[in-house]
Amino acid sequence: MSNEFIGKGLSRLEGPLKVTGKARYSAEFPLKGICYAVLVGSAISAGRVRSINTSKAEKTAGVIKIITHENRPPLSSPGDRLSGSANSEKRLPLQDAEINYAGQYIALVIAETLQSAQHAAELIEVNYDKQPTVLGLKNKNIDRFPAKSQMGEIAKSRGDAKAEYGKAEVKLESKYTTEAQNHNQMEPHASTAIWDGDKLTVYDASQYPAGVRNGLAKMFNIPLENVRVVSHFVGGGFGGKGNMWQHVPLAALAARVARRPVKIVLSRKQMFNNVGNRSETEQRIAIGANKDGTLKAIIHEGVSDTAMKDDFVEQFTISTPMLYACPNVDVAQELVRVNKILPTYMRAPGEATGVWVIESALDELAHAINMDPIELRMKNYAHQDPEKERPFSSKALDKCYQIGAEKFGWSKRYKSPGTNKRGGKLIGLGMATATRGAKRFGAKASARLNADGSFLFRSSTPEQGTGSITVMTQIGADCMGVPLNKVTFEHGDTNFAAAPVAAGSATVSSVGNAVWGAGKAIQKELAEKLIAEKKSPFFGASKDQIEFKDGAITCSAKTKSKLDYASALKVLGQKSLDAKFDTDPFEKGQDHSTHGFGAHFAEVEVDPDLAIVSVKRFLSAVTCGRVMNEKTCKAQVQGGVIWGISQALMESTIFDERSGRVLNRGLDEYHIPVNADIPEIEVHLVPEEEKHLGALGAKGVGEIGIAGVPAAIANAIFNATGKRIRRLPIRIEDILLS
Ligand code: MOS
Repeated sequence: MSNEFIGKGLSRLEGPLKVTGKARYSAEFPLKGICYAVLVGSAISAGRVRSINTSKAEKTAGVIKIITHENRPPLSSPGDRLSGSANSEKRLPLQDAEINYAGQYIALVIAETLQSAQHAAELIEVNYDKQPTVLGLKNKNIDRFPAKSQMGEIAKSRGDAKAEYGKAEVKLESKYTTEAQNHNQMEPHASTAIWDGDKLTVYDASQYPAGVRNGLAKMFNIPLENVRVVSHFVGGGFGGKGNMWQHVPLAALAARVARRPVKIVLSRKQMFNNVGNRSETEQRIAIGANKDGTLKAIIHEGVSDTAMKDDFVEQFTISTPMLYACPNVDVAQELVRVNKILPTYMRAPGEATGVWVIESALDELAHAINMDPIELRMKNYAHQDPEKERPFSSKALDKCYQIGAEKFGWSKRYKSPGTNKRGGKLIGLGMATATRGAKRFGAKASARLNADGSFLFRSSTPEQGTGSITVMTQIGADCMGVPLNKVTFEHGDTNFAAAPVAAGSATVSSVGNAVWGAGKAIQKELAEKLIAEKKSPFFGASKDQIEFKDGAITCSAKTKSKLDYASALKVLGQKSLDAKFDTDPFEKGQDHSTHGFGAHFAEVEVDPDLAIVSVKRFLSAVTCGRVMNEKTCKAQVQGGVIWGISQALMESTIFDERSGRVLNRGLDEYHIPVNADIPEIEVHLVPEEEKHLGALGAKGVGEIGIAGVPAAIANAIFNATGKRIRRLPIRIEDILLS
């Protein structure tokens, strides 16, 4: 494989577009005759709209139309959200009077200006039949029911964990809780819809344009080819924009009613109410081990919350059976229905909440048996996948521990908690393992060779800030053996070959493989044509004699001749050449398990009187197969770590038990870190050879960055203070009062 650009730490190619404001986001397309829609949310969290009076609102200057469940045009079902349609909630918006969560849309105001629409929205009078709010995992009156798999995979139990736990020399059992979180991307959710006859175009902030297209076609009963969804640039996704939330079909509905382009941008408050968040979880873990650290049994179970009408499972047990070589593992999850919007995927869904529990519990075990936490992990190292009983496609986790420990100075950690002091502060070091399934989804891409010898690759995948454009261009250039400036990657438009949801840290392994495959398909077709064309210097040669190297086409049977891509096209009398590639999903029937791994190391300083925690140092050593771009790859890990620190110490969406409303719905009250809260994050990309997940040898990286980070911090806090905190976020009072 040519290796000119892949791996290099190139800066983002779209950087100049972004810093000069030329990169257009979905609410930034200037359109003639555009009008604005504002969505009105329910004041209650459970019950029905008894009556809704829009007459005052309709008299507001500039109001074009107000839509409620009483006058709305019908929508059809978009089908299941895992069936290729990106739809989220099953219940369609504005179709009936039922209310299941606070802020749920009950009306939509279309007006000439945003201000008119906002003002009119205030004047709508609503009477409700109110039911009590059902909320909270602590509420023992709510029925719990067994959770089924969310993403087609479910953690599997093995052996007899209960019996073996009972017999174990060392037993540790505890409860952990995590609170709800909201994605809060910098760019809010936004959709601009335009109808031209029965053709619909939507500019949407989406990680999954192809899925939005699919869902909208079904909801409006129009052929798929009549829908175009454009998501060139997305200002952060993190899973929250992986589904289509209700403002998207409502923008299209409004545009149809108004017969004009309509733009909807969610307010920051609506970013808390009307798009999915991370479920709350309550987890119990029990670990049985020998005194020498050999794991004998792990029991990991618990409950998370979901919506009244839809199931979402935050799969916090997903990593437990595969992470360590323990013969007896029991995992089980339950759900409870509450008056909240449907929860959803959020960066490392499952791992972010679950790995922190198992990695905290292992730290507790290490302390109990007076063993180094890394030694304990190595003692129970899973050389093959103990859950699926097959080899890992690649796993350099041992190197991550080793390199991470060495670079971080792990040997300087004080064994006895609460004994390391510096400048009056308590110092603690902690570590945790990171893991995340490495996936490959089905993905399509196209390639075109132009007359000037340049290449155009296309895919509907958006650029959501991860560096996809840059990486796809690097892949295209190396595939063709040409300089970077000969390759263009066009993206984020369903007019292009369909990409899967840009999620699951799988865009490189999915779309990247499709781009590579499309480039190879161009070469294959060129070779076939060049040996069949009489005017070609390679006429009559066999296919395997044709070689593509460094942008030149040669033939071992005709060594005197050499063509570049432009002259090859000329010889063939063609202006361009097109090819496509379709990558299969990597799943059933595989004989290897594919996972990314890593080790996180944190140093915290804790004020002994005030219990203020600050993270002083952070280091991650991760493996992700072949690195596509060193700079964007490290940036992915750093971003994940920042969120992990935030998850550990700050973030929580607080719901009012009585009204069901989010109390801290704004970036002023929903705590997130600022630069001063985040130390320099050192990332080491540990080399690893991945031979199974695809031609590129790449696994995903984004989400390993967050999985396990809260455990590394909680473990460091224990090392600093001797206090084991088992709820996230870890608050000052948790440390002071424990
Ligand atoms: Mo991610 S939660 O798979 O966008």
